[in-house]
Amino acid sequence: MERIRHVIDGGLKDSATGATFMTTNPYTREPWAEVALGGEREVRAAIDAARRAFDEGPWGRMPVAERVTLLHRFADLLERDAPELSRMDTLDMGKPYGDGSGADVAGNASHLREHAEHARLATAPTFPGNGRHHIFSQYEAAGVVAAITPWNLPVLMAVSKLGPALAWGNTVVLKPAEQSPAAATRLALLALEAGVPPGVVNVVHGFGPGAAGEALASSPGIDRLTFTGSTAAGAAIGMLAARHLVPVLLECGGKGPSIIFADADPELAIPMSAMAAFANSGQLCVAGSRVYAQRPVYEEVVRGLVEQARAWVVGDPMDPATRLGPLATGEQFARVQGFLEEIPAAGGTILTGGAIPGGWLVRPTVVTGLAPGARACREEIFGPVVVVTPFDTDDEVVALANDTEFGLSASCFTRDRGRAHEMADRLRAGIVWVNTFGVRDWRAPFGGYRRSGVGREGAEHSRAFYTEAKTVVLGY
Ligand code: NAI
Ligand code: MG
Repeated sequence: MERIRHVIDGGLKDSATGATFMTTNPYTREPWAEVALGGEREVRAAIDAARRAFDEGPWGRMPVAERVTLLHRFADLLERDAPELSRMDTLDMGKPYGDGSGADVAGNASHLREHAEHARLATAPTFPGNGRHHIFSQYEAAGVVAAITPWNLPVLMAVSKLGPALAWGNTVVLKPAEQSPAAATRLALLALEAGVPPGVVNVVHGFGPGAAGEALASSPGIDRLTFTGSTAAGAAIGMLAARHLVPVLLECGGKGPSIIFADADPELAIPMSAMAAFANSGQLCVAGSRVYAQRPVYEEVVRGLVEQARAWVVGDPMDPATRLGPLATGEQFARVQGFLEEIPAAGGTILTGGAIPGGWLVRPTVVTGLAPGARACREEIFGPVVVVTPFDTDDEVVALANDTEFGLSASCFTRDRGRAHEMADRLRAGIVWVNTFGVRDWRAPFGGYRRSGVGREGAEHSRAFYTEAKTVVLGY
């Protein structure tokens, strides 16, 4: 049994009470590591350490170039330990080992590097011409950043918070998902090894409501709260932070459409839509879980998706041949099964897929025949399940695609450039992919409309969130 501990003030710590919980390997369904169970006391210690490191430590006043050098060293170590970090994600939540589908561990180092470079090169506006005063602005670190992350991409989620928060000079208390704690502790140790001072990156393990997560989100001692996870938890956390007017960044759920027009290249559109639906077992906030296919190609798209679904190898996530591991938890498996069980009664047909008995594996699943009001068409399933629906006109598909409470991502496939631009304008989502899926650029804004979240990540947006902007007026 491996052990996973908190990292507070630069040291590995157990909880004051010695309490622990287990993290389960979802493929074997056996616990594989014992984790320190943090609560209010550990959260308070971590926030205090982060505050001291911010106020008194060398981090707060470190020249940006030195900070950037440390962050590049941190990124180098993340790359060095990519196999170990990948192993931790596989054991914690079943992601295929070394998975490249939008989630590869070495590539995540770019979060650290690119935000660091942005901070290094950043300037701030001056406001000349007043004649009697020199007026300029500057961006200052916000302070102590609380980060609460989910289990679907543990390393990526942690570095997507650490990268910009550290680049702009903040200190951090990270509470990773209780289902996938391992990578966070390792990342904090790598930051220390890179020379990031003690107390700058703290990790507290534990649960959400009524536990470590809630203690962190409701603390008056934090200056920012950044969260990725479900819409329900995002709303709860936002309300906790609002009590102390702590600004929040919330990246929540999605129900992404993939629109395939009759003029699309099927060789591109079908495999991309399959990837959008099935990658990471559908446990992606940007998953394309609704496919809309234009009537003339509807049958071809359905056939193609079924073929793709059957070709994806499902099984042991440590086996290099595997493209889909198990769902991350028994809870998640039960949730997805609940959606699948309702489909026949709602008038739908499962053409291929379904759960594999005796574990938490779900084969890529293709569903047709559902009306837009069906639960599987409206709620985030977070499993490898795609619902395919025909459409006739552009107006009709825009209405269908936008008929959702979410608005994180959308993709569409067409060879008509005018239509591509029009779709990009009309789809109400924070990122629209045309003839592709999943491509991100850390400079570009990322975040959701409506219930998909509050705020945006991405270079300038991250700077706005993780800093305070100050105006200085100097009299001549
Ligand atoms: P969750 O959103 O409840 O948990 C995410 C993180 O928030 C965890 O670290 C958890 O401990 C923390 N948390 C939850 N409630 C909290 C509270 N009241 N105060 C402070 N911290 C809190 O995710 P969960 O329950 O594991 O998954 C349920 C569903 O959420 C999934 O089936 C999926 O549909 C959705 N989800 C969506 C994600 C996305 O990226 N869009 C990621 C994870 C889950
Ligand atoms: Mg687990």
